[in-house]
Amino acid sequence: MRLAIAGATGTVGRHVVAAAQARGHDVRSLTRRDGHDLEVGTGLADALAGVDAVIDVASVATTSTRRSRAFFEAVTGNLLRAEREAGVGHHVALSIVGIDGVDAAYYAGKLAQERRVEHGDVPYTLLRATQFHEFAQQVLAQLSFGRIAVIPVGRFRPVAAREVGARLVELAEAGPSGRAADLSGPRDERLADMVRRMLAADGARRRVVEVRLPGAFGRALASGAMRGDDDATRGRIDFDAWLRSADHTPVEAKADAAASARLG
Ligand SMILES: NC(=O)c1ccc[n+]([C@@H]2O[C@H](COP(=O)([O-])OP(=O)(O)OC[C@H]3O[C@@H](n4cnc5c(N)ncnc54)[C@H](OP(=O)(O)O)[C@@H]3O)[C@@H](O)[C@H]2O)c1
Repeated sequence: MRLAIAGATGTVGRHVVAAAQARGHDVRSLTRRDGHDLEVGTGLADALAGVDAVIDVASVATTSTRRSRAFFEAVTGNLLRAEREAGVGHHVALSIVGIDGVDAAYYAGKLAQERRVEHGDVPYTLLRATQFHEFAQQVLAQLSFGRIAVIPVGRFRPVAAREVGARLVELAEAGPSGRAADLSGPRDERLADMVRRMLAADGARRRVVEVRLPGAFGRALASGAMRGDDDATRGRIDFDAWLRSADHTPVEAKADAAASARLG
């Protein structure tokens, strides 16, 4: 198959690409780095010519309700329009378990994305996954202030982005199936504990301060609702196995790389 991956360079996108290539598919990458700004949506006609399915794992780093809605509505609208015009028969989208009723912050954009996909006219598959193990690292990077890390109270059932990427490729191969079974991880975790174990495993020094975030977003994280139901498909790689794997870039190495990139 020929697959176009929106967000191919991201945390899960790179695993989607690896899984697709390992299964012999022809992969096209849609990111700004490849010259495709999906919020603007230009140049997609050529990129989608001959494509069988689009897997959308593009994302924006924001906690703003307005910014998140604007991003996911624009990206989804532009992709669906271009898919319709190019005759692409399958749109595969990734969303998040437990976001129903949390029409705030980042999740507002994900709900808007789901509505667009479900009410669009391109046959679709919608997978919801729980937070990735990598989420602990994403949160740490955004909420570290010197040697202090301010971590929201959050109860999750995290899954390896590698397993989510492989599942998305299987779903693309299977053809449009609407809402797929949710995908969650093998064990329940508390976000601050994940961050502390990651720092210890990496030999990095930060003081972790756990705080309860206000509003609907904070309540959703703390409530445990993001863990989903027990009838979800469960991944096999737990957080500690992921920490020991090559998929995890040690914290200080990552911070050093980011600092070097900033310095040019
Ligand atoms: N992180 C989690 O724990 C989690 C859990 C469940 C579901 N999800 C969902 O998984 C998806 C991917 O999340 P992620 O954490 O892997 O994202 P990520 O690491 O932030 O990667 C985002 C990707 O989107 C691309 N991108 C951003 N803006 C773009 C634009 N305007 N045009 C084209 N490409 C653009 C980026 O490439 P460029 O910067 O080069 O453009 C990058 O490839 C999201 O929909 C998210 O909601 C995430």
